[in-house]
Amino acid sequence: MASLSIENLVKRYGDTQVVRGLNLNVAEGELVALLGPSGCGKTTTLRMVAGFVEPTSGKITLGATDITTLPPHRRDTAMVFQSYALFPHMSVAANIGFGLEMRKVPKVERDERIRAALDMVQLSHLAERLPRQLSGGQQQRVALARGLAVNPAILLLDEPLSNLDAKLRAEVQHEIRALQQRLGLTTLLVTHDQEEALIMADKMVVMEGGVIRQHGAPDELYNNPADVFVAGFIGRCNLIEGQSLGSGKFRAGHGGAVFDCDPATQGSVLALRPEHITLGAPQESAATGTICRITFLGAQTEYGIDYAGTSLVVTTRGRPEGSVVGNKIGLNWQQEHARLLPATH
Ligand SMILES: Nc1ncnc2c1ncn2[C@@H]1O[C@H](COP(=O)(O)OP(=O)(O)OP(=O)(O)O)[C@@H](O)[C@H]1O
Ligand SMILES: [Mg+2]
Repeated sequence: MASLSIENLVKRYGDTQVVRGLNLNVAEGELVALLGPSGCGKTTTLRMVAGFVEPTSGKITLGATDITTLPPHRRDTAMVFQSYALFPHMSVAANIGFGLEMRKVPKVERDERIRAALDMVQLSHLAERLPRQLSGGQQQRVALARGLAVNPAILLLDEPLSNLDAKLRAEVQHEIRALQQRLGLTTLLVTHDQEEALIMADKMVVMEGGVIRQHGAPDELYNNPADVFVAGFIGRCNLIEGQSLGSGKFRAGHGGAVFDCDPATQGSVLALRPEHITLGAPQESAATGTICRITFLGAQTEYGIDYAGTSLVVTTRGRPEGSVVGNKIGLNWQQEHARLLPATH
């Protein structure tokens, strides 16, 4: 395993820069999730690390080696794709051994490494099956084993779980994370699913339009988003445009509702997470709104609330007394949970 360092990486197609001066580090044994909306340049970045796309400029270093211009097979990387791309006519074992054969690993060692890789993903009993005789989750694990078998210095995962249904995806997320931690695999994971990134990553890098908006530990990004884009992209958030009135007060829109906010923050958008608002009796609360919608979500209940012309989403565990559509309800939040942020653009 080795650390990865990306410096000032640029990719241009014609007149369009799709990756615009990216700087990113993955420490040895760390899983970093590259997260962002469709088309923001995640796959392009990963492909540049793997060597399938040539950077326009910038530098990529793996361990002590500058790999920027090395061909893919000379880089010590393994990439697992969204479509697992298993060879349909080859057995599971042969699929896993393919990369080793390409690397001219002798048969005895090859067999040993196939066995070890199958063991890691707990599929030893399916070694002789063909891909079509496996479930989607099993195929995905074979693709992962194929990457692991070559003992790469870094594992590159491009939306590896997007073909799986929600339940299986959650299982495999935890499996991959446990394996990655147990083996100390340096991993760069691309996903557009913020929940997946929160579950699996040591660090998250949020990209938009070819640039990094913010990077940090998952809880750091969740609790201290740098801007409106990050706040809205990670978790849910009430984002309210308006202006600061100073001294911990914020006014929504033009002459709209007044919010208590964190006086240490500045910006034209107030960010307040749905779970940071608690509902109570109107006479005992700092603010009062009207309930417009109640949605039961099992473990949580979600409320749509009109607060002096501003729509708020609030999530709660239980259902407070008097919470009926059309009723007035009290709203409370801690000042430090209502943060002012700069608008994105
Ligand atoms: N070979 C190419 N030629 C021209 N433009 C390209 C090429 N490959 C990618 N692009 C463009 O670069 C941008 C980034 O693409 P990329 O595949 O990196 O996005 P992504 O973040 O992986 O998105 P998704 O989540 O949809 O997979 C897109 O606008 C895409 O259309
Ligand atoms: Mg992609």
